[in-house]
Amino acid sequence: ADASAVVRQVLAQRAGEPGALLPILHDLQDALGHVPAQSLAAIADALNLSRAEVHGVVTYYHHFRAEPAARHVVQICRAEACQAMGADALVAHAQQHLGCAMHGTSKDGAFTLEPVFCLGLCASSPAMMLDDQPHARMTPQAFDALLADAGS
Ligand code: FES
Repeated sequence: ADASAVVRQVLAQRAGEPGALLPILHDLQDALGHVPAQSLAAIADALNLSRAEVHGVVTYYHHFRAEPAARHVVQICRAEACQAMGADALVAHAQQHLGCAMHGTSKDGAFTLEPVFCLGLCASSPAMMLDDQPHARMTPQAFDALLADAGS
């Protein structure tokens, strides 16, 4: 879909609601896969906010992407239970394997790497998602196998 048409439509639906900013950002990310930088001015205008305020909210919430994601999205849990069960090592492995940092895109362009905060799989941590499918008790070996399966 044409991104600016989607932005106009979402703003027309939501701008009058109290506390519309987060719902607007969620709608845009659901529809477009990210919150385009070019939409921030229109959102700010519609809600009587400054561009900086809108930008601050987009960057504060890890959930929102400023760039379109790659074909596959890898999300590794960064919350406490997973941390205690070796999530740091898993993240380090993922970054090395993909050749990118958190919020980055892999060298081959196929994977976006993101943090998430608790997937409800704390009892079988460390946990991650690949393309919205949860995976528990992850090891570096399991990670490599999973990504090889997903292909590039
Ligand atoms: Fe990672 Fe709950 S802390 S799934």
